[in-house]
Amino acid sequence: MKALEDKIRAEGRALNADVLLVDSFLNHQIDVQLMKAVGEAFADHFNGKGITRIVTVESSGIAPAAMTALAMDLPLVVMKKQGSRILTDDVVQTTVQSFTKGTKYELTLKRHFIKPDDRVLLIDDFLASGEAAVGVHTLLSGLGVTLAGIGIVIEKAFQPGHQRLEAMGCDVYSLARVKRMDAGSIEFIEE
Ligand code: G4P
Repeated sequence: MKALEDKIRAEGRALNADVLLVDSFLNHQIDVQLMKAVGEAFADHFNGKGITRIVTVESSGIAPAAMTALAMDLPLVVMKKQGSRILTDDVVQTTVQSFTKGTKYELTLKRHFIKPDDRVLLIDDFLASGEAAVGVHTLLSGLGVTLAGIGIVIEKAFQPGHQRLEAMGCDVYSLARVKRMDAGSIEFIEE
């Protein structure tokens, strides 16, 4: 998606060869016009694939996922990163390890918000090792629900997430695929 790649070139900052800072439009401040276009691009790709519900993982996935849900006129469910005292019953959980941040969390979903015959589209901001998406796949599979697609805003294509998810049979669609980066430059895979 050209507007997204242009924005990453203009405002993204590679901290090193692995981590891209995009907090001026995606992770902290949010460019809602760009997110609207992101939602429409996902809708263009996934419309007609029988999707019935969008899911994301809090927090940075929420903006692009909400815009996608709006563009596709579908409900949105935000998976939580920890249980809470008011979220005690009817809940499924799986542990997700973040290699980028060196943290672990309990991906948490209230069953009530997903129907057994749903075909779910996962939207997330970054794809690195694919741990979050594998966690979503695990939770949905446990409920007998189909993960029909994965839409990613920025994929770090030099990390194993995309291949790993495709090997599991997932349909992965990324709007910007970073081939390599360093402090001075960011190179994309041309589609
Ligand atoms: P994975 O799910 O593909 O394995 O990714 P990984 O665990 O390595 O990364 C997890 C967290 O780190 C996610 O945020 C993800 O958005 C973020 N992340 C990964 N790579 C980058 C990067 O290059 N730049 C930035 N800015 N973030 C990156 P999270 O823990 O879910 O937090 P949140 O921001 O959604 O609240």
